[in-house]
Amino acid sequence: MKVFVTGNLGYVGTVLHKRLLESKHDVTGCDIGYFPKSWDDEENSSLKTLKKDIRDITKDDLIGYDAICHLAGLSNDPMGEINQSLTNEINFLETIRLAKLAKQVGIQRFIFSSSCSAYGLNEDLVNEKSKLSPQTAYAKSKVNSEIELMKLQEPTFSPIILRNATVYGISPNLRLDLVVNNLVGSAMSSGKIKLLSDGTAWRPLLHVEDMADAFIQCVDAPLDQVAGNFFNVGSNQDNVTVLEIAEKILKIIPNSKIEIAESNNKDNRSYRVNFDKINTELGFKTKWNLDDGIKDIYEEMKKRNFSKDDFQDKKFFRLKYLTWLIEQEKINDELKLNS
Ligand SMILES: NC(=O)c1ccc[n+]([C@@H]2O[C@H](COP(=O)([O-])OP(=O)(O)OC[C@H]3O[C@@H](n4cnc5c(N)ncnc54)[C@H](O)[C@@H]3O)[C@@H](O)[C@H]2O)c1
Repeated sequence: MKVFVTGNLGYVGTVLHKRLLESKHDVTGCDIGYFPKSWDDEENSSLKTLKKDIRDITKDDLIGYDAICHLAGLSNDPMGEINQSLTNEINFLETIRLAKLAKQVGIQRFIFSSSCSAYGLNEDLVNEKSKLSPQTAYAKSKVNSEIELMKLQEPTFSPIILRNATVYGISPNLRLDLVVNNLVGSAMSSGKIKLLSDGTAWRPLLHVEDMADAFIQCVDAPLDQVAGNFFNVGSNQDNVTVLEIAEKILKIIPNSKIEIAESNNKDNRSYRVNFDKINTELGFKTKWNLDDGIKDIYEEMKKRNFSKDDFQDKKFFRLKYLTWLIEQEKINDELKLNS
C-alpha cells in the first residue's frame, strides 16, 4: 500500500516509517522537522520525507495514497497547557482539515494517533465504551479530533482511532519526557530515580515498536475490521503505577535509588485501561514487556556512556526544545518556520 505518515521524523514516527518499509509498504513521510535525531550515527535521512508544516498541506500533496497514519502534532500535556489555542489548532483543527482533504482525494484509511489520556481521571478500569474525561488541552484536542473524524466516515473514507498508552523504549529520535524513558535516564545519569509525584498514579504503558505495529496492523487489516473503529493500544499487564515503574528500574540499574520529590504533587492523570478489544478483534499482541523495555533502554544508554549532560540535553525534551527554537528565532510564536 502507499502510506503517508505525518510526524514521521518524531519519536514514534521514525520507528513506524522504518517498520512500514520492512513490511514492504511504499511510504512517504511529512514532517516539519522540529527535533533533531538523538545520536549522530542515526540514519534518518533515508526516510523519504516531505518537509512541510501540516498546516500547509494541500490536496496535491495527498494524491495517490491508500492510507494516512496521522501522528504529527504537539505531543504532550505540558506543551498543550502552555499554548492551548495552538494545541487546538494543530492537533484538532488541522487533523480535521487533513482528513477532509484525504477524503476528497479518495484516501480510504485515516489512522489517527489518539491517546489513552482521553480517559483522564477515571477510577474504573476503562475500555473503548467508557466515558471520556480529558483533563488537559492535549487530551481535549485528541477527543475533539476523534468526534469530528467519526462524522466524516463514509464507505469511501474510514477513520480508525488508536488510543495509545504512554510510550517507552528506544527510537532514533528518543524522548526523555515520557515517564519510563525519563526515569531510566535519571537513574543512569545520577543514580536517582526521581519521582515528581507521589507515584500512586496509574499509567498504561506501550513499547514504541508495539505502537508502530498497531498502526501497521490497521493499514493491513480487512477494512470491515477497522473502519470507523476505536482501539486502545497496549496490554493489560502493562498497567502499572509510577512507583512500580521505579521499582522495576531499581532492580535493573545497579546502585540506583528512588527519590520522591518533597512537594509530592498528586498527579491528576491516572487511569487503568483494558486492552482486550484490539487483541480479540485484530489479534494484536504486544511483543515487549516493561522489564525487557527497561533493560533495552539501559543497555543502549550504557553503550552510549549516557551522562548528566545528556540527560540535560534539550533535544530529548519536546517543550524545552521548542522553547529554544523560538528563542533562537528559528520558529515564530505560532511554531512556524522562520525563513
Ligand atoms: N509518545 C507517546 O507516549 C504517545 C502516546 C499516545 C499518543 N501519542 C501521539 O502519537 C503522535 C506521535 O508522538 P511522538 O511521541 O512521536 O511525538 P513527537 O513529538 O516525537 O513527534 C511528533 C512529530 O510531529 C512533527 N510535527 C509537529 N507539529 C507539526 C506540524 N505542524 N507540521 C508537521 N510536522 C509537525 C514534529 O516535528 C515531530 O517530528 C502524537 O500525535 C502523539 O500525541 C504519543
